[in-house]
Amino acid sequence: MATTEQRRPMTVPGLADARRAGRKLTMLTAYDAGFARVFDAAGIDLILIGDSLGMVVQGRDSTLPVTVDDITYHTACVARVLRHALLVSDLPFQADATPERALDASTRLLQAGAQMVKLEGADHKLDVIRFLTEREIPVSAHLGLTPQSVLRFGGFKVQGRDDAAAAKLRADARAVVDAGATLVVLEGVPSALAADITRDSAAPTIGIGAGPHCDGQVLVMHDFLGLDSGHRRPKFVKDFLAEGGSVEGATRAYIAAVQDGSFPDAAHSYA
Ligand code: KIV
Repeated sequence: MATTEQRRPMTVPGLADARRAGRKLTMLTAYDAGFARVFDAAGIDLILIGDSLGMVVQGRDSTLPVTVDDITYHTACVARVLRHALLVSDLPFQADATPERALDASTRLLQAGAQMVKLEGADHKLDVIRFLTEREIPVSAHLGLTPQSVLRFGGFKVQGRDDAAAAKLRADARAVVDAGATLVVLEGVPSALAADITRDSAAPTIGIGAGPHCDGQVLVMHDFLGLDSGHRRPKFVKDFLAEGGSVEGATRAYIAAVQDGSFPDAAHSYA
């Protein structure tokens, strides 16, 4: 692995370069400078300011109450210390309801230090993705178990299990990339479906509960450090602190396991 000094900062085009080179991308969420600095120095490719902060930092039951102010605050805290990792920030619930609202929120996030914004869903969000990318705002899509859809789903449930739902996810994955997304996060979908989508996708995919065949993996930092966040632990969660011995060791163990393909294994994936 390159030393901290040798490593080049990850860039938006660098994501596709990594995929072409067959190198898996590694991503963790972070919400503060202290953890972000360690993840960055240990070699993580991307840091996500996830709206999961509503659940793991603010102690809420869902991501729905998270605001643009919340994400902007945590983005600024993390951006100050990153040297290499690409910083992605979530557009929280309804901040992307219209292209104009999404542009206002994304501008604030990029001015706070984000380099890409992530938004959930396809359908009417395709116009939002197009509007942002035409205005120089890199976008990651997020499909599958999209936590902002928790009320419609009736809980945090694996998506794409039947043929119709799988076909819709395949079509959505193509549509978000056609609209301009340069990264696609796939959450809570069966491994075989995520593998199909990844094979078919013109942009790299990052999985969470989506099996080993995505172009990279992301975990929420509290989950990867084995912290009890007070919520049910999904099947795909693994405690890397137990094997790494320190936060830095856990980060290195996670990066190595994603890059050598040993994480996620079948025990941490949905069939
Ligand atoms: O909010 C978040 O942390 C996320 C990840 C689970 C991908 O969106």
